[in-house]
Amino acid sequence: MAVKANELQNLRVQSENLRSITELFAADSARASRFTVDACGIHADFSRQLISSSLLDSLLVAVASHQIHDRFASMMSGEVINTTENRRVLHTALRANADANEWSVLASVQHQRAAAFAESIRASADIDAVINIGIGGSDLGPELAVGGLRRFHDGPVVRFISNIDAADFDAAIEGLNPARTLFVVSSKTFTTLETMHNAERARAWVSASGVDWVSRFAAATASPRDAIAWGISAEQTFEFFDWVGGRFSLSSVIGLPVMCAIGAENFKEMLRGMHDMDLHALQAPTAENLPMMHALTWFVNAVLLQLPTVAVVPYSHDLARLPAFLQQLVMESNGKGVSNDGSALTHGTSPVVWGEPGTNGQHAFFQMLHQGTQVVPVEFISSVEPLGDDVVAHDLLIANMIAQAEALAGGSVAHDPQRGFPGNRPNTILMLDRLDPYSLGALIAMYEHSTAVQGWLMGVNSFDQFGVDLGKSMAQIAVNAIEKGVADSSQTMTHPLMEWFLQKRRNKS
Ligand code: F6P
Repeated sequence: MAVKANELQNLRVQSENLRSITELFAADSARASRFTVDACGIHADFSRQLISSSLLDSLLVAVASHQIHDRFASMMSGEVINTTENRRVLHTALRANADANEWSVLASVQHQRAAAFAESIRASADIDAVINIGIGGSDLGPELAVGGLRRFHDGPVVRFISNIDAADFDAAIEGLNPARTLFVVSSKTFTTLETMHNAERARAWVSASGVDWVSRFAAATASPRDAIAWGISAEQTFEFFDWVGGRFSLSSVIGLPVMCAIGAENFKEMLRGMHDMDLHALQAPTAENLPMMHALTWFVNAVLLQLPTVAVVPYSHDLARLPAFLQQLVMESNGKGVSNDGSALTHGTSPVVWGEPGTNGQHAFFQMLHQGTQVVPVEFISSVEPLGDDVVAHDLLIANMIAQAEALAGGSVAHDPQRGFPGNRPNTILMLDRLDPYSLGALIAMYEHSTAVQGWLMGVNSFDQFGVDLGKSMAQIAVNAIEKGVADSSQTMTHPLMEWFLQKRRNKS
């Protein structure tokens, strides 16, 4: 059940009547503390959002009337809340205590197997690189975590192949010895076109080196039977479950490449951060609940203020893949046009998520953020403690981030219109104590839960993704056309282009 039309109208009126962010600060001396939330090693400052105290009060009422706490409880207790696919949504069971429920028992067995395997790979004198083959949720989470935890990486080289474009494969294997490389085929379904093609190519590459390819392959999948039928040994096949959505699967055995990079203990620490955030989401009152407060700010910007995009700008180069990870998490979850019951929605849903690390973005798209006609909310993410030795660089990084937050929200008046800054650009700063496994786990779980809360308020099912299906089935028609050399007449709007392409092909051969 979404926020109802009259409720939405009421919230919208309140948001339209808002004064500027500067005035909101001037009107309320307690604003900074009221709009700040601390949880699980993350300090979140939402005070530069265009939300007044009274609008926040109304939003807190909306959270209560939509029983968001109860919805978390339902999700975590294994109710079938993904009704369109008739599935439970239990990524939280992956990081709960092993004996918490029947699902965490299953997950824990697989975690232990994967952890032991990862440690054997880390200790092996025969392996010096691990390549994950997977796409979407079977790629983005592990890639984010391996990059984000670069300073904890003491295992073999870990690389990622996702794209069907052979360039991705070619780049990933550069400089590696096929006989000394382990491939992890990560796929919930074990049918994904890109992954299966790349896995076959990897198998051929390893086999050609003369080494027994089976010893160099592992699988992380919810379809172990298919992985084993493909040839991967049962011992090196690690299972997760249909109650884990792809984009919510980092804490499952999809994290195997992360375990290889940082070790099983550090991976456990990441799960601990996630679990602590799960409990916080479930238990903390709304005004102190980080994922709920975060979700409210995104809901206000996307639905009430109808701002169509949000820029995610990590002031942490190691989190460079965070915008890509969030693109899938948020847009695949909430990029929907109909509600749970199939009725068309009349309000906005997922914003377009995009971004690049700061300070790089400052020298590229920040011009538009400051002076463009479209207002883009900005989410800044960084950490208090520098991880490397260059403390000066870290201080400069943080100084830049804080300065940008101030400038975007406050703006600056100038006589010359070219040099004026309108300000009033909402932004949030999320500061981790330190970019470590615990905090990164908490941050990722925070985003998972915020995405779910946004979906509940919008009235969409955040856990299905039927929007990817049409393109997949049409791709199969196009593949058949290219194989046969005959364009399919059912593809009316691309038929001439396909014919042109096939003719070019014929001319070449
Ligand atoms: O096409 C979208 C999608 O199904 C995502 O939801 C998923 O994360 C990705 O493809 C990969 O799927 P799989 O893990 O089954 O290979």
